[in-house]
Amino acid sequence: MCGIIGITSSKPVSSSILHSLKKLEYRGYDSAGIATIDNGIINEIKSLGRVDVLEKNISQINLSGEVGIGHVRWATHGIPSTINAHPHSNENISVVHNGIIENSVILKKSLINKGHKFKSETDTEVIVHLLSEYLKSNELNNAIIKTLNDLDGSFALGIIFKDMPNIIVGARRGSPLAVGYGPNENYLGSDSYALKSMTNKITYLNDGEFCIIKKDEINFYDYMGNKVNKKILQLSTNEQNYEKGEYKHFMAKEINEQPLTIKNCVNEYIDKINNEINLHNFPWKKENIKSIKLIGCGTAFHSCLIGKYWFEELTNIDVDIDIASEFRYRKNRFKEDCLYIFVSQSGETADTYAALDLCKKNKMKTCSIVNVVESSIARDSDFVLPIHCGPEIGVASTKAFLGQMMVIYLLCLKISYLKNNIKKSDYNKKIKNLDLLSEKVKKTIFDENQIQTISNTFSKAKGSMFLGRGFSFPIALEGALKLKELAYIHAEGYPAGEMKHGPLALIEDGMPVVVVAPKDQYYKKTISNMQEVIARGAKVLLVTNKDDDQIVSENIWKKIEIDTVEKDLYPFLTTLPLQQLAYYTALKKGFDIDKPRNLAKSVTVE
Ligand code: G6P
Repeated sequence: MCGIIGITSSKPVSSSILHSLKKLEYRGYDSAGIATIDNGIINEIKSLGRVDVLEKNISQINLSGEVGIGHVRWATHGIPSTINAHPHSNENISVVHNGIIENSVILKKSLINKGHKFKSETDTEVIVHLLSEYLKSNELNNAIIKTLNDLDGSFALGIIFKDMPNIIVGARRGSPLAVGYGPNENYLGSDSYALKSMTNKITYLNDGEFCIIKKDEINFYDYMGNKVNKKILQLSTNEQNYEKGEYKHFMAKEINEQPLTIKNCVNEYIDKINNEINLHNFPWKKENIKSIKLIGCGTAFHSCLIGKYWFEELTNIDVDIDIASEFRYRKNRFKEDCLYIFVSQSGETADTYAALDLCKKNKMKTCSIVNVVESSIARDSDFVLPIHCGPEIGVASTKAFLGQMMVIYLLCLKISYLKNNIKKSDYNKKIKNLDLLSEKVKKTIFDENQIQTISNTFSKAKGSMFLGRGFSFPIALEGALKLKELAYIHAEGYPAGEMKHGPLALIEDGMPVVVVAPKDQYYKKTISNMQEVIARGAKVLLVTNKDDDQIVSENIWKKIEIDTVEKDLYPFLTTLPLQQLAYYTALKKGFDIDKPRNLAKSVTVE
């Protein structure tokens, strides 16, 4: 989703801004732009489409200036177009914005009445005019405070001024914003990832704060204008691998990294000498946790759903799940003895963050399961369990899903053991079983030709269904989500037992249907449901065990075979061929796999 970068330096900044915008491309966007101040003039240049187009346009002019801001936009108010791309500027001020200004229509009306002229359809442009208006009769800090006070909604802002050519103002409410410290230059960024190539010394704005950044000094203020001191964090200099390497797409690379995701989690959380799960510094006593609530969005919500099945299976505590965008606006009954767990790859998803914030305001116990440990969700929750899978760049989540499931499973096992819901011998056995999982995951990533014939059929389909029961139901949902996200094919994930209550009417001759049926306690029931769709003409792709001999296979169109593992662990295997199915179907259709249309990696608006 939208991304911000700002640099104030003693040398020209446009090429570094472009470089950082490329780092932000993974978030998903439709246009890009940059503004610098040079010789008392704001130079603004914007393009529809990729940062490459912007780069080309910039190469044709000499965009100098030692202070500048850049942006990649994911359209919310107004179509994707050059005019609506950020920055938005008048002759004095230029603004980049992430988030949504909810009262922009009212503000715009009153600004137009005062004689302001608007160029774009965006909500952002009101900030330019509002701040200009306040600057007529206020010094900078007061003008900023008054402007921010007038805005409803969420924002992260980067602002430059013609008359103050050495500063960038950053401000935050809701949407995250990082500030970086460099040698004789300083930075503003929507995440630390954008800043990492320039510095590893960063800090973050808290909600309501703003900052004034000069090349050699940064000052932070709260919403009333009181100075705030900040702790500077040193990011790890561990070389994270952000390159595609031999792979055509980040997604292909990330699918293939999943054995390593499992290995990393197992190594991080399991003390092999004592055969024990270590949740270092887990801050609560077992008696004080009587229920669990798992909250997330998208793929992360699917890992919450699998978590529900595991917690119900392995513990006797109550477990509930919620989609963050629903949870945040419901009349929740907060429970002191509930542990609220927020699952998020990016740690920046606006709805998940708002759900966390709500729990914190109600003084609940909060834990986050995240990939990006410097993220807002990680920073603001009481306890963090990282998933250790390295940067995930492809918009459709793959290895982060496996990592989230793994951490939820380990947490569930540990709680089950602490609460005496599992025998020590079974606990030990389940931990031991994880030793082999990485190898089993590796074997379940198939060669291209094994999936390609299947995906050829899917690429011609108008629609498809994904069915499963128990642990395989969330996997069916995730498989359908992947096919929608990447191959733009209508796909429904359904509990196999629910088909006869409506969706069976959708089955027609030749419709491809994926049935996820590993040999667990639900196997026989799912196979019966499979026969019901076959009888109505569906072409079934069955994902099941290698040693599956009970099935009358003439009925089945295709079969994908996985290894036998302990029944809790099937989700780690069954999800893999479904990721590959979506990948190869999208490849066949020639779509932009790492950046699917309309979608964003980091969803920072609600
Ligand atoms: C976006 C991504 C999904 C992801 C969801 C939640 O929609 O495209 O892949 O599952 O956000 O993101 P999070 O970072 O909170 O896991």
